[in-house]
Parts: sequence; C-alpha cells; structure tokens
Amino acid sequence: MIRYFFSSRARPAYRFSVMLLIAVGGCLMQRAALSEDAASEPAKYLGVVTCSGSTCHGAPHPLVDSKVNQNEFITWHRDDAHAKAYRVLLEEKGQRIAHNLGLDNAATASECLNCHANNAPEAQRGKRFQIADGVSCETCHGPASKWLGTHVTGEASRADNLKVGMYPTEEPAARAKLCLACHLGAENKFATHRIMGAGHPRLSFELDTFTVLQPAHFRTDADYRSRKRVASHVETWAVGQSAAAARTLELFISQKGQGAGGLPEFAFFDCHACHHPLTELRWAPRASAGLPPGVPHFNDANLLMLIYLMRATDAQLADELHAGLLALHKASLESADAARTAARSVQATLGKIDSKIRGHAFTADETRGILTSIVRGGRDGEYRDYAAAEQAVMGAHALVDSLPASGGDAAKTAQLNAQIKTLYAVLKDENAYQPARFSAEMKTFEAALQ
Ligand code: HEC
Ligand code: HEC
Ligand code: HEC
Ligand code: HEC
Repeated sequence: MIRYFFSSRARPAYRFSVMLLIAVGGCLMQRAALSEDAASEPAKYLGVVTCSGSTCHGAPHPLVDSKVNQNEFITWHRDDAHAKAYRVLLEEKGQRIAHNLGLDNAATASECLNCHANNAPEAQRGKRFQIADGVSCETCHGPASKWLGTHVTGEASRADNLKVGMYPTEEPAARAKLCLACHLGAENKFATHRIMGAGHPRLSFELDTFTVLQPAHFRTDADYRSRKRVASHVETWAVGQSAAAARTLELFISQKGQGAGGLPEFAFFDCHACHHPLTELRWAPRASAGLPPGVPHFNDANLLMLIYLMRATDAQLADELHAGLLALHKASLESADAARTAARSVQATLGKIDSKIRGHAFTADETRGILTSIVRGGRDGEYRDYAAAEQAVMGAHALVDSLPASGGDAAKTAQLNAQIKTLYAVLKDENAYQPARFSAEMKTFEAALQ
C-alpha cells in the first residue's frame, strides 16, 4: 500500500485553530447504556451508536464553542478508513483472501475480525454493540461503560476516565501500542505470509505519519493543551520506531516467528528480497546487514531508523545496536534458535534506547542532527530495502514537520518539503523501486540540509 505517499500529509488542524473555550454541555445521557454498568463486571463496549448522538459526537459540523469538535462521528464515518474496516471483509477483495485461505467467511473469521473490527469477548459486548462498526470509537478510546456517565455530565477529569477504562490515546507510547496491534501485529493477531500470499496488502506503518493521515477528528487548541500533553512530531516518530522495533522482535521470538515446514515466518523478512523481477539485479553489500548475496534477510527498517537516530544523540548506543543487528542477520543464517538468541540481545539494547527516547523533549539542534543522520544513511545506500526507504522518507517528513515548531526557518522548510515530495515520487511504485536512484535523491537532500 503506497497511497499515503500521494496524500501529502494534511496540515494538522491545531496549526490554524484558535477556538473559544466554553464548557461542554447539553449532551444527552444514554440512559439505556448506562444501566449496563456494574462495578464488579469487566467494562463493556457500548457501540458507536452510543457516541454518535447529534448532541454528543454526531453533530453535523464542528462546534466552535465546545471543547471538542463534537462531529467526530461524522469525520470517522465519512472519511476514516477504520469505519469501513469491517465492510471490506464483506467485499470481493476480503472474501477472495478468505477463500484463498480456506476460510468460510472473512466477516466471521477471528483471523480477520481481530484487526478489522472490535472483536471483543462476548461478555464485554453491550446491548448496542455491533461488530459491523469496524474499528470503532471504543476500539481506540476504550470500553465506555464505566466512564460514559460522568464523561457525559462533564464531572470526571481525564485522569478519572483513564482509571476506569478510557485509553490514553494522546501518549505516544500508548498510542504506538494501540495502533501497532493492528498495523504490525500482537499476540492474538498477525498478518502472516500466508495471509499476504492470499492477497492481503503489505503492512507498513509509521506512527507520526499515520496519526497525521488519519482524518483528524480532534483539534489540539489551547483548551486541549490544558488537558493533555501534545507530543512533537519528532518524539511521536521516535517512540513509534522504538515500539515497532520492539514489537517486531517480540513477535519474531514468539511462536509467530515460525513459518510452515521448519521455515521462518516470511512476514518478518524483507518482502522485496524475494519479490522482485529477476531481470533487475540489485544486490550490493550493505554495511548494516553484512550478508552475502542470495539470502533472504530480516526486515530491519525500524532498527535502521533507530541506529541513525542514536548516531545523532548517543553514539555508544548506536554502535551497540549496530553490532546487535549484524549479529541478528548473521544468526538468522544459522538457525532459528541462534536468531532468537540474537534477537533477545537486540531487545536489551532497545530497552536502553527506549528509556532515552520516551518523553524526551527533542531540541531543534537534535532534530536537525537526527534528520541529517537519517539522510546520510540513505546517501550511503543503507536503505536498499524498499521498507527501509519508505521508513526513511516518512521519518524525514516527521522530522521536517518538527523543525518550524522548534525554530527552523520557513524558506528552508519549503525547500526540504519539496525534496520530500521527490523522494515520495521515487517510492511511488514499490515494484519498480531503484535503490541507486533513492541514494542519489538522498544525496540531494543532504545538500539541501546544509
Ligand atoms: C494484524 C492485523 C490484520 C489482520 C490479521 C488482517 N488484516 Fe486486513 N488489513 C490490516 C491493515 C492495518 C490494513 C490496512 C493496510 C494499510 O493500508 O496500510 C488491512 C487491509 C486489508 C484489506 C485492503 C483494504 C482496502 O481498503 O483496500 C483487505 C481486503 C483486508 N485487509 C482483508 C483482510 C482479511 C480477509 C483478513 C483475514 C484473513 C485480514 N485482512 C487480516 C490489518 C489486518
Ligand atoms: C484508530 C483510533 C481512533 C478511532 C477509531 C477513534 N479515535 Fe478519537 N482519537 C484518536 C486519537 C489518536 C486522538 C488524539 C489523541 C487524544 O486526544 O487522546 C483522538 C481524539 C479524540 C477526541 C478529542 C478529545 C479531546 O480531548 O479534545 C475525541 C472527542 C474523540 N477522539 C472521539 C472519538 C469518537 C466519538 C470516535 C468514533 C466516532 C473516535 N474518536 C474514533 C483515535 C481514535
Ligand atoms: C483494531 C485494529 C486497528 C487499530 C487499533 C488501528 N487501526 Fe488503523 N487501520 C486498521 C485497518 C483494518 C485499516 C484498513 C481499513 C480499510 O482500508 O478498509 C486501517 C487503516 C488505517 C489508515 C488508512 C491507511 C491507508 O492506507 O489509507 C490509517 C491512516 C490508520 N489506519 C491509522 C491508524 C492509527 C494512527 C492508529 C492508532 C491511533 C490506528 N490506525 C489503529 C486497523 C486498525
Ligand atoms: C523468503 C522469501 C519470501 C519473502 C521474504 C516473502 N515472500 Fe511472499 N512469497 C514467497 C513465495 C515462495 C511465494 C509463493 C509463490 C507461489 O506460490 O508461486 C510467495 C507468495 C506471495 C504472494 C502471492 C503471489 C501470487 O502470485 O499469488 C504475495 C502477495 C506475497 N508473497 C507477498 C509477500 C509480502 C507482502 C512479503 C513481506 C511481508 C513477502 N511476500 C515476503 C516468498 C517470499
């Protein structure tokens, strides 16, 4: 899936909004739903219909005099891919994948529902819960039965709501965990190579880019900032990389790392190493992989981003991660056990890196340093894999977007954005990706950064 390379990152609404701040009011209580709550029971998912009343989150237009837009339902329903995540399972493309896998019906198979809907246990489904809601409000914001009442009357604070099941979507690490569960995988859900082979699109995710791409149903104005922390693009990107790398290794070490017939699970490897035309020879040595030609290799895109991030901020940890990655690639040629052992050692390094990144207020100098470092990796031909090139461009975009906020100059930013557009164009067709051309464009980017 590459269409986000064309959808130029929509400007986040908070850059423009100056809103009047008047306390929320007038939202009708959903009494039927409230009566489902019992303190001893697990919190229940009440269904989108519970949120979408016209005086709640289903107003036809954003309400300027309210704390929140109140038309979140309309934005989600009309523009957000999550609202149709269940529906695609009923459509031809969903049914064809299921058919190829020998499943009766994609829309009833938990292999699909776990990511394409809120496939909550029966006991947590309220009376108005609908699986057909797809990736619904409560899939992200948490089951509402224990907070809906005080949420509607406005008596509860954010902290109160979080205690009873609302999810901290504003915190980058928590958000990364939430999104990655479906956009990468989790213990109970994973898009295996069999699912890919049946026709599922390749998954690709970068937390900051996808946050910007999801049609915004919230505005980070002054009132928002008085209630919640707004993480910068660079922090969101960095935390997202760390979480994605950690999740990949965790899944790789688990049973999910095993494919059929003693082979490793191919979904952890670079797709294009195996899937590219034989007439276009492209192998070349890569310092961060250290592998000979003719072997599949672990998809290390997130790890590469973290190596270049740390190069700019903590050279020792960058070297440690680099050594760990080389060992992982080497071990993956030996045996599954050796690969798992090497992956565990990389996990330990990632733990140290994560504690440096989380909540870190990246300065403008640091941001520029990281951007330069990421771009140099591209110039040096380290992003030969399409997945790494894709991460580098999404990352560079997030970093450039962070610069004005931390004191960069506008003309420079426009020049950098133009170069980012060119890089997206180089990545337009993953099947025609030319690593050499990408490196050349990264070199031009480096010159623009001077
Ligand atoms: C690990 C989570 C996960 C699992 C499991 C999963 N999907 Fe998906 N699926 C996604 C995500 C995420 C996307 C969107 C990819 C993107 O655009 O980046 C997607 C996209 C799709 C699309 C393309 C949607 C479109 O609008 O073009 C179809 C069709 C699809 N999935 C069907 C299935 C079917 C059928 C199954 C079960 C066999 C399944 N998926 C299992 C996460 C998953
Ligand atoms: C894919 C995940 C996802 C889905 C689905 C989703 N949201 Fe959100 N929502 C977010 C994120 C991320 C934010 C921004 C972080 C924050 O403010 O907590 C947000 C913010 C909000 C806010 C802003 C709150 C404020 O403090 O100003 C409201 C209100 C909201 N969502 C309501 C809804 C409603 C109603 C639905 C369903 C119609 C919905 N959301 C669906 C992820 C989601
Ligand atoms: C329960 C699973 C789930 C969760 C959680 C989830 N997503 Fe998704 N997301 C999907 C699926 C499935 C699709 C594809 C839907 C389709 O195209 O039919 C998707 C699509 C998207 C798209 C559109 C991609 C494209 O190719 O156009 C964006 C952007 C996105 N998600 C962002 C996010 C963000 C940001 C978060 C976390 C705040 C998040 N998602 C959380 C399952 C999920
Ligand atoms: C180690 C090599 C290898 C890797 C890595 C690999 N694949 Fe495959 N893939 C194969 C083989 C072998 C087949 C089966 C080809 C056949 O049946 O003709 C296949 C089949 C497929 C097919 C079906 C092709 C068809 O013509 O029907 C798709 C789609 C696919 N893979 C996607 C992916 C994606 C996406 C990734 C990365 C997440 C990936 N593959 C990683 C080797 C690989």
